[in-house]
Amino acid sequence: MSRMDNQSLLKKFFVDELQDIYWAEKHMVKELPKLQKAATSDELADAIGDHHVATEEHVSRLEEAFKMMGETAKAKKCEAMEGLIKEAHSIIEDTDQATATRDVGLIMAIQKMEHYEIATYGSLVQLAKTIGQNDVANLLHQTLAEEKDADEMLTSLAENKINEEGAKEEGHEGEDENE
Ligand SMILES: [Fe+2]
Ligand SMILES: [Fe+2]
Repeated sequence: MSRMDNQSLLKKFFVDELQDIYWAEKHMVKELPKLQKAATSDELADAIGDHHVATEEHVSRLEEAFKMMGETAKAKKCEAMEGLIKEAHSIIEDTDQATATRDVGLIMAIQKMEHYEIATYGSLVQLAKTIGQNDVANLLHQTLAEEKDADEMLTSLAENKINEEGAKEEGHEGEDENE
């Protein structure tokens, strides 16, 4: 196979992966307001709200990236993000409203999504450079930095307050299924 063919296969793979993260980002735009509503503390609700605004920008950047590559923006179902969203919903179901434990769970669920995004954008930035799409790489690098900021923000919320408050909360009698 010629080098040219390898490049175009890699480009096709790259575009497929853009479609995957495009689906993931669009679904996060829908889900984050639900997670925000479920949060107990104002600090966490505000942090989720801020990342919702950032996530809308991530969707726009991906549309820009498709355009730069002469491709139409198309979303392809991302099984990983779908699973992470389901997990977030079950955390909401399994924790009581207005508890710090709810926030501990939400932080964990959202951090899993952020880590998935960080891994994806980290790889996409590298791959964009490999296929000579440096402008696309720069664009996606901005999103990567914002995902890392969101992750750090959530870590500091957990460390500073919410986990300790969660530790003070008493479980209800008979709540532990293993008893
Ligand atoms: Fe994002
Ligand atoms: Fe994110």
